[in-house]
Amino acid sequence: MIDAPSSPSLCLIIGDPVAHSLSPRMHNAAYREMHINYVMGAARVPEESLADAIAGVRSLNIRGLACTMPHKVSICHLLDELDPVARAIGAVNTVVSDNGKLIGFNTDWLGILRPLESHINLRDKRVAVLGAGGAALAAVYACVSVGASVTIFNRTVANATPLAKRFDVEVAPLSDSSELAGFEVIINTTSVGMSPNTCQSPITESQIRSHHVIFETIYYPHQTQLLRLATSKGATVLRGLDMFLEQGAAQFELHTGVKAPRETMRNEISSPLVT
Ligand code: ATR
Repeated sequence: MIDAPSSPSLCLIIGDPVAHSLSPRMHNAAYREMHINYVMGAARVPEESLADAIAGVRSLNIRGLACTMPHKVSICHLLDELDPVARAIGAVNTVVSDNGKLIGFNTDWLGILRPLESHINLRDKRVAVLGAGGAALAAVYACVSVGASVTIFNRTVANATPLAKRFDVEVAPLSDSSELAGFEVIINTTSVGMSPNTCQSPITESQIRSHHVIFETIYYPHQTQLLRLATSKGATVLRGLDMFLEQGAAQFELHTGVKAPRETMRNEISSPLVT
């Protein structure tokens, strides 16, 4: 008798909305490349159903989760354990089931830090983080963790104050960002420029200098107005896809224990067919 192949371990990305997530494509391509018997699916989980979904993860013996908005903060108290970095950031984007014990991790900050550090040593550099939502949490943590001096610029200062206090960094109105010339790095974590408002940029062309390293965390569209302006001014640009790849590669490594095949993953998400 021929042995039937064992059924794959199941990973899921949960979020709402989640249908257009690139994570299943990227992870499934990596599993195939590395001959790992896993499969990743996507499950839309509305905010009010998160606790039920986590109970399901336990009872169905799901191997791991990728977790996106709006669950990254609220999932923390539903897990058995948080990795110290996830606890410090206060948000989880990766869950690993260790024989049924659900452990929460955060790899978003690596998605910011690794691409940045391949261009610039951040110690004592001035970093402007535009925005104060979920993506800003990971960006501020990443930069502070390696000794950068961070200022958060946000449209609504009051919304940024808790984040600034938590990490002991400066905060200023986005309208004050005219003095960006003194910064080495600018990270956009606002939603300005995201589809369908693809003609908008959180800062103007005149604020961008050639010495700037500009990191865009939006990955839909791949090429934002901010990146177009930054390229035309001769600045160094890092794209949302660079962040998406690195957070996903670290997530793959947590789920499987195997080094991520980054080129395969990059090719999968960079395809012109992926919008
Ligand atoms: P996420 O959690 O995905 O990062 P979010 O919580 O919606 O997204 O955060 C969006 C960020 O973009 C916020 O900092 C928001 O600023 P406010 O705190 O003032 O709302 C910022 N943002 C959204 N639309 C903006 C706009 N048109 N101009 C400037 N900032 C904007």
